Amino acid sequence: MATDSELVNAAIEAMNKAYAPYSKFHVGAAILDEDGQIHCGANVENAAYPIGHCAEASAISAMIMAGRRRIVKIAVAGGNGEDGLLCTPCGGCRQRIREFAAADVPVLVADPNGLQARFTLEDLLPESFGPENLDS
Ligand code: THU
Repeated sequence: MATDSELVNAAIEAMNKAYAPYSKFHVGAAILDEDGQIHCGANVENAAYPIGHCAEASAISAMIMAGRRRIVKIAVAGGNGEDGLLCTPCGGCRQRIREFAAADVPVLVADPNGLQARFTLEDLLPESFGPENLDS
């Protein structure tokens, strides 16, 4: 099973592959799945700004295309590593992660210098709505 630092390094590598010519804000995400595999993604922007993809969405797509369905840990890397601001997942991506992750799943937040903070999904998205709400 990947260590936290391996997952963070994978997110930083993904960040370095981002296509972000408009915001110039590079983000990478690395998902550890229930099988121990890592799936990465980066933000992919577009000249039609609203249709750009976040890094977390790209990593979730990679996981799904690998045939996996559960996130057991996720690392997100972004920011310049100088201003002290954390690149926590945006609101939409918290909900995207929620679809495939339990409340106690660790969300590791990194910048180019490495791991900066650790949350659970519940910390970031309390009292959330998810797939179970539709089971009945
Ligand atoms: N971005 C992500 O990829 N993930 C987040 O959780 C926050 C924002 C991207 C979207 C856009 O390409 C750039 O960062 C600036 O918002």
